[in-house]
Amino acid sequence: MIEKELWHPVALADEVAQAPLAVQLLGEALVLWRDAAGAVQAWTDRCPHRGAQLSLGRVVPCDGGTALECPYHGWRFAAGGRSVHVPALPDFVPPPAHRATVYAAREAHGLVWVRLEGEGGELPAFAAEHDARLRKIDCGPYDVETSAPRLVENFLDMAHFGFVHEGWLGARDMAAIDDYRVEATPQGLLATGCKAWQPQSTIHSTAPAQVEYRYEVTAPYAAVLTKVPDAASVGIEGYQESIALFICPMEAERSRVWFRMATADFERDDAQLRAFQDTIFLQDKPVLESQRPRSLPLDLRAELHTAADKASSFYRRYLRDRGITVGVRPSSIQA
Ligand code: FES
Ligand code: CO
Repeated sequence: MIEKELWHPVALADEVAQAPLAVQLLGEALVLWRDAAGAVQAWTDRCPHRGAQLSLGRVVPCDGGTALECPYHGWRFAAGGRSVHVPALPDFVPPPAHRATVYAAREAHGLVWVRLEGEGGELPAFAAEHDARLRKIDCGPYDVETSAPRLVENFLDMAHFGFVHEGWLGARDMAAIDDYRVEATPQGLLATGCKAWQPQSTIHSTAPAQVEYRYEVTAPYAAVLTKVPDAASVGIEGYQESIALFICPMEAERSRVWFRMATADFERDDAQLRAFQDTIFLQDKPVLESQRPRSLPLDLRAELHTAADKASSFYRRYLRDRGITVGVRPSSIQA
């Protein structure tokens, strides 16, 4: 399964503190905890002794560092997974094979990322992360009963603004979409010239305006939206405000979503920016959860498409070409 070789977000970095945290990725139950060196450990959430859930245990001081203690018989597992202490047999020295199942974990974009299989591989890029002038804020998590690809398509879709987000991001009688361009990139796709009519285009504007966006798919379950600065807009020159969508495919049809905002809005506080994002996403959620099938059909004949859906048709072909199998319905077309 190629998805296991990709890096996926599983939790906000701030959530992983002293107590072990249970998360799920691609149907696997994982436990996250932070070791004495501050590094995140990501393990199978199952004790190799008798299968108890390690996330019910606790992080304890051990041999000058810390270890994760199983809730059942108190076995201790050090960073890296080695069993280092068996309370029922205090003099026993566990052999190297006595260990928890450990996965690669990294921190980036305010999130913890885990890769279940393979070596190397890049995290999804987010260029605005590196612009020190922009504020970075994580919004979420939002749990959604649908597949990750349905969420990516919703993020790429401007034609729903006037309906799902009426009065917030669009209006039903201003829902026309101008033609836009889509092209392949090494990581995914790039859609440019995406224009939408918006009731309030920036925090500073009081009038509706046409706003231009650029959308990128940066990994099978990640995308970035960048607002193309327009000459007349208020703001500081050169700012490229972006929002990244990062999705954890907990299961094929169950997802956890975060947005990473890189914004030049220095007026509203974090809670206000999050509240806005919460409102928008909670408008999307019931519609997303109503879509059937929940897994995205890669057979382009399975649903209807128009020129306004170019980005989504392109995305389906990209998933098919990458051999993505989780959260999709396979195509019967060999093209
Ligand atoms: Fe974990 Fe026995 S099941 S120590
Ligand atoms: Co929406």
